[in-house]
Amino acid sequence: MAEHTNKRIALVTGANKGIGYETARQLASRGMTILLGAREEQRGKAAAAKLQSEGLDVQFLRLDVNDQTTREAARRFIEDKFGRLDILVNNAAVALDINLKPSEVDMQTLRKTFDTNFFGVISVTQALLPLIRKSDAGRIVNVSSGLGSLTQNSDPSWEFYPVKLLAYNASKTALNAFTVMLAHELKDTAIKVNSADPGFTATDMNDHRGYKTVEQGAAIITQLATLPASGATGGYFDDHGVLPW
Ligand SMILES: NC(=O)c1ccc[n+]([C@@H]2O[C@H](COP(=O)([O-])OP(=O)(O)OC[C@H]3O[C@@H](n4cnc5c(N)ncnc54)[C@H](OP(=O)(O)O)[C@@H]3O)[C@@H](O)[C@H]2O)c1
Repeated sequence: MAEHTNKRIALVTGANKGIGYETARQLASRGMTILLGAREEQRGKAAAAKLQSEGLDVQFLRLDVNDQTTREAARRFIEDKFGRLDILVNNAAVALDINLKPSEVDMQTLRKTFDTNFFGVISVTQALLPLIRKSDAGRIVNVSSGLGSLTQNSDPSWEFYPVKLLAYNASKTALNAFTVMLAHELKDTAIKVNSADPGFTATDMNDHRGYKTVEQGAAIITQLATLPASGATGGYFDDHGVLPW
């Protein structure tokens, strides 16, 4: 029998470290119940325990976005325990072609990247959407990247113009397409779907070369996850505002 709680229930995927972990912390700090998604139990439990020790309502939920068994188990757990999901942050991602040129990237790297960054997000979202529809204010945040913007990729004056990671960048472009299409499908519901660009943030993904802190990187995700009813849907934002697709 599902618990009746007025607290918002949020799931963050890939939340055992980096921007996902900090997003979990920021949402929990706003009084929510957080399901800290992680593919590996020890790392996930350790991360959840750290946030619990700060007095936050956080629990580990095993979720490998590429593994149907864990997706289905996560869906069942949320349904049985809460009967709904208010916020889904699709944060988990990989960057596997950091040193590869577009003409050289192999199919395995392309497919592995798309598996997590695109197909994984769609699979998790489709599995959980029936529960998000039960929320009175569902929010889906797809954690994208400025590198997914074809407009920015085509602008020689853009700061990151030389960064042409075919697998990673294109996976985020495709993810942005999912944002647009799903937001359109859900436009007459209470659910908002947006893409967030955290900006160049110091995490393991870039060997901590990013110049933003995780607190700064997670801020736009938290903002989109907590949009009011009047907020945007089907958009692409960083903390300066709207990004070009
Ligand atoms: N850092 C930046 O500058 C930057 C800029 C723009 C966008 N982003 C985006 O921000 C998000 C977070 O990135 P980050 O910088 O925090 O990277 P990170 O520190 O490498 O964290 C990535 C997280 O995703 C998890 N993950 C990877 N594959 C997974 C799978 N199959 N199932 C579940 N979890 C999986 C990782 O888990 P493990 O620990 O088990 O590997 C880890 O928790 C990503 O979507 C990234 O593309 C980052």
